[in-house]
Amino acid sequence: MRIFATVMMNIHFAPIQGYTEDVYRRLHNKIFGGVDVYYTPFVRIEHGDVRSKDMRDVRPQFNEGVNIVPQVIASGGGELKMLLDKLIPMGYKRIDINMGCPFPLQTKHGRGAGLMANPEKVKEIAKVIKERSDIQFSVKMRLGLDNADEWKEVISILNEVPLVQITVHPRIATQQYKGELNMEAFDSLLNECKHPIIYNGEIQSVEDILRIEKTYGDKIAGVMIGRGLLARPSLAFEYKNGTTLSDSQLISKIRELHSHLLEHYQTIIPGEAQQLNKIRTFWDYMEETIGRKNWKKLKKAGNMKNYIAALP
Ligand SMILES: Cc1cc2nc3c(=O)[nH]c(=O)nc-3n(C[C@H](O)[C@H](O)[C@H](O)COP(=O)(O)O)c2cc1C
Repeated sequence: MRIFATVMMNIHFAPIQGYTEDVYRRLHNKIFGGVDVYYTPFVRIEHGDVRSKDMRDVRPQFNEGVNIVPQVIASGGGELKMLLDKLIPMGYKRIDINMGCPFPLQTKHGRGAGLMANPEKVKEIAKVIKERSDIQFSVKMRLGLDNADEWKEVISILNEVPLVQITVHPRIATQQYKGELNMEAFDSLLNECKHPIIYNGEIQSVEDILRIEKTYGDKIAGVMIGRGLLARPSLAFEYKNGTTLSDSQLISKIRELHSHLLEHYQTIIPGEAQQLNKIRTFWDYMEETIGRKNWKKLKKAGNMKNYIAALP
């Protein structure tokens, strides 16, 4: 049991496209808990309209009891307004704007981290933020598209508009989600930015959270965790409660989460092969948690029967 720090940091569950969908968030919140805020994977415009698959993920009736913030990805003021026109009538008053997605499919259209290299487009977004004082906005960004200085101009623009927070993943887009974290640049950004900052990147354990807590204390407003929570869904709960689940407690809770997810996919996805394809991704980040041998068996199972037999 550790001695509690005076201030417990807020834990934000990072949006991970294809993993942290509505049903996962709902079940995680119920079975594991410990997370203060969940973010939806980004809602985007495709072929001139908001994707209906994304709209389904944010429906309030599928997110009941879970503190969620819808995230949007937009190339500028026009797309942002279109997205707001769809989301705000659903009852949301809080929106996160993605300026960090490194995938070329988005950046080549100027979205996500593409914005980091285009201050004029960031100004358009800032204008919408200013105009829509009825909505609370936050931003999730990285240091730049292909240059770790790009954040400077972006932050000077964002400093002029009201924001709940800025989440920072201290890498540039060309690194995607690998390689060295530029903590020096993160520290400079923290000094320059007038808004509360959430740290995001490579948090895998309670020790990692405590290290950030010790380094930054109340200079940051919390941490956002993605892959670390997918790998160990108990991470936020363990940090909040100063406890560590035993291996058997953890596996039993993971199985509970898994069985509810599978049940859900069996009702909404036609065809066993498709259900298996979907549920199998549940283990993608869990190799260390369940051991390589178990993990490989699950990955290789050719049908549902073998898959069920391979569950840890
Ligand atoms: C497969 C995948 C999908 C992601 N989808 C999103 C997304 O929709 N929106 C977003 O802001 N970030 C997205 N991210 C980035 C994560 O939110 C997070 O910033 C990143 O994984 C780094 O945090 P971590 O080291 O704690 O995982 C994605 C990352 C991965 C690996």
